[in-house]
Amino acid sequence: MPDNKPFKKNLQIFCQRVDASLDRWLPQPRGPESHLQEAMRYSVIGGGGKRVRPVLVYAAGQALNLQLEQLDACACAVEIIHAYSLIHDDLPAMDDDDLRRGRPTCHKTFDEATAILAGDALQALAFEVLAKDEHMSCNSTTRLDMIRLLAEASGSTGMAGGQAIDLDSVGKQLALDQLENMHQLKTGALIRASVLLGAMCSPDASAEVLQKLDTYAHCVGLAFQIHDDILDVVADTATLGKPQGSDQAQNKPTYPALLGLDGARERALDLHHQSLAALDIFNESADTLRQLSAYIVERKH
Ligand code: IPE
Ligand code: IPE
Ligand code: MG
Ligand code: MG
Ligand code: MG
Repeated sequence: MPDNKPFKKNLQIFCQRVDASLDRWLPQPRGPESHLQEAMRYSVIGGGGKRVRPVLVYAAGQALNLQLEQLDACACAVEIIHAYSLIHDDLPAMDDDDLRRGRPTCHKTFDEATAILAGDALQALAFEVLAKDEHMSCNSTTRLDMIRLLAEASGSTGMAGGQAIDLDSVGKQLALDQLENMHQLKTGALIRASVLLGAMCSPDASAEVLQKLDTYAHCVGLAFQIHDDILDVVADTATLGKPQGSDQAQNKPTYPALLGLDGARERALDLHHQSLAALDIFNESADTLRQLSAYIVERKH
């Protein structure tokens, strides 16, 4: 395995970059709509978000030797969609959770209507960023492809679709393939989009390279949600920054519920190994992607 120091350094650089560009893109609260803009900033900036999706954008671009400046808009867009999905995920009509990223959830700090609107406005902002950013050197056809990819990953064929299945499955016993489909949609789709958006910033990524990165992303996307389900059982609220046991309390279908903790861990590890195999065609430029895959199944929160 690659040495851990450059990985940590890269993570730090990527997180600082995306934080700075999120701060630039999020509107400064002013005027009669400032309450909404405060709620948007509260949910994106300053909490304990791990920034895994933007880091995947940068790491995929790094594997293709891209300049980081080329990747900022995509990194920002995926984190903004993710932040919106978390605000809505926590609402009383969904998971009804009070704690997120170590702080009260958006609807607790503000109010439910503001939280709904903050999610709406963040979703629109993500596409505004992709449409407006002036540092991406890709042509307009690629930019449109990126917007389409992010839209599909976020909508009813992606994240929102997976969330609908999740809510509809409360108290039900899903078969393994149904559970996997739900996870791939609600979490895998945006993680896949993060890797592919990073790769699409390269003008000359071959079909084979894109295919390999897609396989990598498919594996880490599913592994990410399996590990999230495991942490919901084994971690504690303070470490997680969100309520431990939320899945069990609401009778959600999860990997540990279906396969047991050991079975879920085995499946996540298997996916980690598959993701590494997909990166065989890359040299050390893909080391951050390799390390991220390990981090995703080992992380403590
Ligand atoms: C939590 O995502 C929601 C899931 C899709 C499992 P993260 O674990 O990436 O949350 P943050 O961004 O670090 O808060
Ligand atoms: C959330 O899954 C997936 C999203 C699209 C936000 P969870 O409901 O398991 O996420 P957490 O555990 O609340 O972060
Ligand atoms: Mg949920
Ligand atoms: Mg939740
Ligand atoms: Mg969870």
